[in-house]
Amino acid sequence: MSLPRLQTRLVRHGLQPYFHEFLVPASSQLSPRRFLSSTSKNNATITSSSASSADPSRSQPKRKPLTKEQRDFLSSALRVNQAGELAATLIYTAQTPPLVNAHPHLRPLMAHMYAQEEGHLDTFNSLIAKHRVRPTALYPVWQVLATGLGWSTAVMGREAAMACTEAVETEIGGHYNNQIRTLLEMFEQWEAEGYEVGPELQDLVKTLRRIRDEELEHLDHAVDNDAKKAEPHWLLTGVIRLGCRGAIWVSERV
Ligand SMILES: [Fe+2]
Ligand SMILES: [Fe+2]
Repeated sequence: MSLPRLQTRLVRHGLQPYFHEFLVPASSQLSPRRFLSSTSKNNATITSSSASSADPSRSQPKRKPLTKEQRDFLSSALRVNQAGELAATLIYTAQTPPLVNAHPHLRPLMAHMYAQEEGHLDTFNSLIAKHRVRPTALYPVWQVLATGLGWSTAVMGREAAMACTEAVETEIGGHYNNQIRTLLEMFEQWEAEGYEVGPELQDLVKTLRRIRDEELEHLDHAVDNDAKKAEPHWLLTGVIRLGCRGAIWVSERV
């Protein structure tokens, strides 16, 4: 997706349009940067790169230890993202049977969005396992609420189901954007101090950008499929967005 198209899409969906370098879509490569560990055990380690070993005259990259606050931010980001993606898979799982039964033409779209959500969930399952982050303690609660939300909106009809997706993806798109912004502000600070950003954190930003772009695609699909015609649209999306914000807030902490 081109940067102008992404900016237009964010504005269209009422998301804060960040016009900085970090909103370059996931398909774009990050500029080569130096290394900084994302894990505490490697925090103080100066890594050797193949470039520096090949050319001893080049100084080795410096890594800055993550502060406790930064480690906490990363842990809570992975925890809330995993919980959110679990909820997304459950919403689509619950929505699909009643929705596809009534509107068989939606089957490929629902399958496509579900497959992407499943991929997102796999990604965060791997990341929380790798970094030993505790999953949210409210896992069972989110399972029940997400399934209930998916099923009830699908039973209300196609427009309500799509309004649910519109509301959820609006919040989630903004949520991922905030994480990307925080990480890139961290990177800028480190680089200003002469430190280098490690490949794990660069990969994390790339992953977040890709997933954010896919969430915004879901949002577009929902709007294209008459989400705005849900009755009453303002109430339905307002309540769901509020619920999402509450769930994000709680999952970051518990
Ligand atoms: Fe997702
Ligand atoms: Fe999504």
